[in-house]
Amino acid sequence: MSDGGTSRAREFERGEARKTAAGLSYLTGFGNEHTSEAVPGALPEGRNSPQRAPLGLYAEQLSGTAFTEPRAHNRRSWLYRIRPSAAHPAFTRADNGAIRTAPFTETVPDPNRLRWNPLPEPPAGTDFLAGLWTLGGNGDATQRTGMAVHLYHADASMERVFSDADGELLIVPEHGGLLLHTEFGRLHVEPAHVALIPRGVRFRVELLDESARGYVCENYGAPFQLPDLGPIGANGLAHARDFRAPVAAYEDVSGPVEVVNKFCGNLWTAVYDHSPLDVVAWHGNHVPYVYDLRRFNVIGTISYDHPDPSIFTVLTSPSDTPGLAGVDFVVFAPRWLVGEDTFRPPYFHRNVMSEYMGLIEGAYDAKAEGFVPGGGSLHNMMSAHGPDRETFDRASAAQLRPQKIDDGLAFMFETRWPVTLTGHAAGADHLQRRYDDVWQGLQRHFRA
Ligand SMILES: [Fe+2]
Repeated sequence: MSDGGTSRAREFERGEARKTAAGLSYLTGFGNEHTSEAVPGALPEGRNSPQRAPLGLYAEQLSGTAFTEPRAHNRRSWLYRIRPSAAHPAFTRADNGAIRTAPFTETVPDPNRLRWNPLPEPPAGTDFLAGLWTLGGNGDATQRTGMAVHLYHADASMERVFSDADGELLIVPEHGGLLLHTEFGRLHVEPAHVALIPRGVRFRVELLDESARGYVCENYGAPFQLPDLGPIGANGLAHARDFRAPVAAYEDVSGPVEVVNKFCGNLWTAVYDHSPLDVVAWHGNHVPYVYDLRRFNVIGTISYDHPDPSIFTVLTSPSDTPGLAGVDFVVFAPRWLVGEDTFRPPYFHRNVMSEYMGLIEGAYDAKAEGFVPGGGSLHNMMSAHGPDRETFDRASAAQLRPQKIDDGLAFMFETRWPVTLTGHAAGADHLQRRYDDVWQGLQRHFRA
């Protein structure tokens, strides 16, 4: 086919995928015990593993937590599939591309404030998996602690199927819609939405636009959960009912399908004789989901100062220390600023936690320039950061009228350990060399 023919074929495929995405229905509620069947009668009633599962399906449990973890944290699902997952050939090692995994040892941890421009254009034909580029992370995937920050830039849909045994994947698109085909069904995710693929769940990413760009938090630790609300009360922040899980949908495909498995930091590949996305019915709470960040109920001051940014936590992965997250996913969503006698942008700060920030659209209220959609910044443990000089000068002199911040959507992966960079992130051409300059020229105003 000519290049023009190929591009027309791709455009047609994207159009069909857009129609599919627009027509999807969902199950709602975070952490619910969902049930779904693509064919009536496929889900057994009253038991998980009958002597013969309905419709000749195989019953299979997928455990996201140990069998014995407390009920409030326990995650597992039962899948009723055309072939059991066990029916696959041996995996062999595949090239890891630009994917790296904790422990990160390619560089020494860097105390400097760091900022990157967006990833460059990928080579033609790059799918989501090939387009993953690891910035850095912490912990140890084999110990199921810590996290990694990845970015992606792709211009082709995945033909192959991927699963990550090392952690769950929180996908934060910045450009381009995605149709996620998962074992549990299909999810539509656009910029300003996020999607979560649980540990071990097979999926492939179909592009809904010519290219796709965004961020991924790979969480090796405990699955993300909603934060406790404490004195906020029974409502607020991300509402459980706004999280949407797929309804069952299956592929009954015979023929070669490449399945890539990320295991303890390496990619492994096998060619199946069928699609592993062949789950006809399922029930459980270890499920993929999507969430619209614009649904986030932003809580803030109505008197003075502003709360610490933990008030913007969408999801948290708890550690073994109460209140200390392995990683928090935090969003800086549109909101009103009304604080009286208050410096309204985020304050100057040194933090025991480490902060990776990305920008989905618009601008961020602490940085006048240089922090752009698709880019990101890293402020590691105890590094001093805060508003740039221009923002400080403006905010210190501003008339404090009620002000709507509605021109940007930024987010943060905040983690308990420093983020150590990969070699390619530390040496990237798109690493800004003069980020420190934004804090130069902050004048001495002291008068004794
Ligand atoms: Fe901070």
